[in-house]
Amino acid sequence: MHDNPFRPGFGISPPMLAGRDALLDEWREVFGLGAWSPYRAALVTGMRGVGKTVLLNAVEDAALARDWTVVHGTLHAGLIDGLEHDRLPAMLQEQDPQARTREVTGLTVPQVGGLRTEVKERYEREPRLESMLARLVELGEERGAGVLVSLDEVAKESLDQLRRIAIAVQHLMREDRRIAIVAAGVPASIAAALDADGLTFFRRAQQVRLDTLTLSETRAALAEPVRTRGRAIGEQALERAARASQGYPYLVQSIGARAWEYTPSTEEITTDAVQHAVEVAHAAMGESVIVPALRGLSSRDRDYLLAMAEDDGPASTAEVGERMGASPGTAGRQRARLLDAGIIVAPARGSVDFAIPLMREHLRAHPHDAQLGLPTAARDTFRA
Ligand SMILES: Nc1ncnc2c1ncn2[C@@H]1O[C@H](COP(=O)(O)OP(=O)(O)O)[C@@H](O)[C@H]1O
Ligand SMILES: [Mg+2]
Repeated sequence: MHDNPFRPGFGISPPMLAGRDALLDEWREVFGLGAWSPYRAALVTGMRGVGKTVLLNAVEDAALARDWTVVHGTLHAGLIDGLEHDRLPAMLQEQDPQARTREVTGLTVPQVGGLRTEVKERYEREPRLESMLARLVELGEERGAGVLVSLDEVAKESLDQLRRIAIAVQHLMREDRRIAIVAAGVPASIAAALDADGLTFFRRAQQVRLDTLTLSETRAALAEPVRTRGRAIGEQALERAARASQGYPYLVQSIGARAWEYTPSTEEITTDAVQHAVEVAHAAMGESVIVPALRGLSSRDRDYLLAMAEDDGPASTAEVGERMGASPGTAGRQRARLLDAGIIVAPARGSVDFAIPLMREHLRAHPHDAQLGLPTAARDTFRA
């Protein structure tokens, strides 16, 4: 009867997208008839679980509401191939009255030795991405709209794919066509994209660094969906849930969902329900967020985090270096890499703190997680 409104997980839009209204207004400007906006090319970054994907979803919705065409993609090795051979032709087929006569399709060559692949490749190398995107923009402009290219999960391994798309988009932007691009990724991936050859275009893009939610945004993200679905949450329970989430959107949904389902048929979500939800949600943070975040790091990076975890709050960079037995230069490099990766923050000069809630507690409870991939005591028992 009372469906759970909360959406724990990744990439699933929440019942209330808290704290992003002002930001979304910037994009609404892009899709309206307003003046040129720097958000026409934007890079969204922030740590895992902060809400990059659901923000992209909301930006796409804003574009669709203005009749723009949305070309959405998740970056991986086969993205361009999929766009050129499948998605863009399908979109053109749907929108373009002349699609059938324009398309070069259905090329059949008898399979004789290596001939087939040779001929096929010659056609595939044509810059079809550019021309198809240009045609989509043309069709969008005819309706008084444009095309939004929305790319998620920017990663070092697929920068070549990003480059191809960036070149096509940049070309159309130079001609002052109605095209916009937004790309999202964790800070280390966005930093790599900004450094890469052929992607200088993005250095002029609007940088959007997503932060965790404020306490009042968090309270709204929890309370509003509960009230909309006809249930209630008391002041104390709400405050406890909001504080335990630390404004981290992933935890807001995770705690909200578990508090809801504790006694789903009663009217009120009690402090007991919240207490239980917080315990379960916090325990699940390791597997869902912290371990995946540690996975991409080097063992030196993880040593740095373990040294930081000895403090109850922000750690002094000098002390962390000493604990690691590292020279200031080496420790400084680790610090820079972890800042780039969005794993730590620098709250003040000379100090560092964890960016992801509960990482300190997790590392203290499971120090071996910091040595992922290295032999653990259990694995050692199988040796020799
Ligand atoms: N502004 C927000 N308000 C409420 N919940 C949010 C908000 N942003 C994200 N969430 C929730 O947080 C979780 C993670 O969001 P997601 O976009 O997948 O993060 P990312 O892509 O940055 O890893 C999802 O369950 C989503 O519903
Ligand atoms: Mg995401």
